[in-house]
Amino acid sequence: MIFLGQVKLLKDSLRDGEKKRFEMTDEDLTVAHWEGKYFAYESKCPHRKGPIFMGRLKPGACITCPSHKITFSLETGEIIHNPIPDSMKDYHDSDNLRIFTVLENKDEITVNY
Ligand code: FES
Repeated sequence: MIFLGQVKLLKDSLRDGEKKRFEMTDEDLTVAHWEGKYFAYESKCPHRKGPIFMGRLKPGACITCPSHKITFSLETGEIIHNPIPDSMKDYHDSDNLRIFTVLENKDEITVNY
């Protein structure tokens, strides 16, 4: 696998429940510390490019986009809950959230993208 770049972050710099956005020229990703684990995901929602970096973290390693309230798994990127009715077909559909692998060592996390 070819990576374009890397984000490194000291574990101490992100408390549980906090998120940090990284806007690079070639990628825009967010790292979240939640329920003792670190997650990395694209900052813009795959539904309509809403600001999912500002999303609400939820129990069970999920995040809800503030725009239309679709909830995604931070583990897999899959849609956990989509409140938009099926009858609004074009508006209902969304891809999964893109997830990045987080590598942890003692003091630091690394995300390759
Ligand atoms: S833009 Fe995120 S749910 Fe619609």
